[in-house]
Amino acid sequence: MSISLYVHFPFCTNKCHYCDFYKEVHDKSHEEKFYDALAVELELAVEKTADRTLSTIFIGGGTPSLTNLDLFEKFIAQVKEYFTFAPNLEFSLECNPESINLEVLTRLKEIGVTRPTFGLQSFNDDTLKVLGRDHNVHQSQQAIYLTNALGFKTYGVDLIFGVPKQSSKMFSADVEQLIDLDPPHISFYQLIFEKNTPLYTKFLNKRISPLDDDLILAMYKSGCEKFKDAGYVRYEICSFAKPYQECRHNISYWDGSDYLGLGPSAHSFIDGVRFYNCSSLAEYHIAINKRELPREIDESGRDERIAEAIMLGLRTEWGVNKKKFEKRFGSDLFDYLNQDQIDMMLKSGHLIVDDDKIKLTDEGFFIIDSVTERLVK
Ligand SMILES: C[S@@+](CC[C@H](N)C(=O)[O-])C[C@H]1O[C@@H](n2cnc3c(N)ncnc32)[C@H](O)[C@@H]1O
Ligand code: SF4
Repeated sequence: MSISLYVHFPFCTNKCHYCDFYKEVHDKSHEEKFYDALAVELELAVEKTADRTLSTIFIGGGTPSLTNLDLFEKFIAQVKEYFTFAPNLEFSLECNPESINLEVLTRLKEIGVTRPTFGLQSFNDDTLKVLGRDHNVHQSQQAIYLTNALGFKTYGVDLIFGVPKQSSKMFSADVEQLIDLDPPHISFYQLIFEKNTPLYTKFLNKRISPLDDDLILAMYKSGCEKFKDAGYVRYEICSFAKPYQECRHNISYWDGSDYLGLGPSAHSFIDGVRFYNCSSLAEYHIAINKRELPREIDESGRDERIAEAIMLGLRTEWGVNKKKFEKRFGSDLFDYLNQDQIDMMLKSGHLIVDDDKIKLTDEGFFIIDSVTERLVK
């Protein structure tokens, strides 16, 4: 049976104003200690996932492109000792443009990375400043130029929209510049004002105002249209790919496949059970020093699993497949959906129900949160 591997690299040089992913300021000695602990976590975790073939690896963060490449290479060699790598292994690694140069990308490719992804976010230096990013537009273009020059067959780019002070014109210029670069994959994220971030504090202090909801929706619709015209398929609410360039790792999260997560704050889903690693490097080290896995089991029950599967499925272009649902949960999908709402949404053109699946229409995607809330019992 196959499995995916996620590794959370918990260091960044800079803390962007909007981000609440778990990370610490990068420090060489802390990184060395982290890799020592990661090797132990891998050894402990593998006892429970023996004899699996790795179909995808995703190194996320944090800023994995900052990593000490010798330590990273050693870690990947350890992973190879425990798992068989699938012949078509997809191996993604998140990169920040300012930490990318010819030497780093060349080494990453040699180590086996097949799919770098780049957090470019915007092609407007003012927008990058509002976000508190550590790179400029020139560094973004340089990173993509090097990726093409080195012959990576696939790669991804992240773009954020709905940033305070961003006008429709600035947004359109971002989308057009991204399309000009022609990346095989685009992650198109609406900026979320996460609590406990400097951006949120600025909002509370009235030093920054979020954009109007209608403008944000107009940006999403316009992005979807322009990406479609440029040959991309939206296969998930935020994910757009040229044909056959979908991120298989992310699909494994949405379709209920097994994945093992290593590193602080990483999640795992194995044999129907979800685990959460602690979001603190200090606690992570304490557990690993005792040779314990730094994880807690998600105690939520079957009903929560079912609601989650429906919500994740509705986020995708494939929707929720009736037969797969029945095979996984042993129940009829419609037992968990509100029939009155289905009828209303069919009439209003937000939902499609056919012999195989239920899925959202374009109009449904534009109001996905309220649609899913109303549909799931
Ligand atoms: C957590 S980052 C890790 C990768 C890398 N350090 C980077 O910044 O691209 C992964 C993606 O999540 C996005 N992200 C983080 N916080 C976000 C937020 N509050 N709203 C929207 N996107 C967010 C980042 O911009 C980035 O594209
Ligand atoms: S967005 Fe990326 S670079 Fe910025 S703080 Fe978050 S993880 Fe670090």
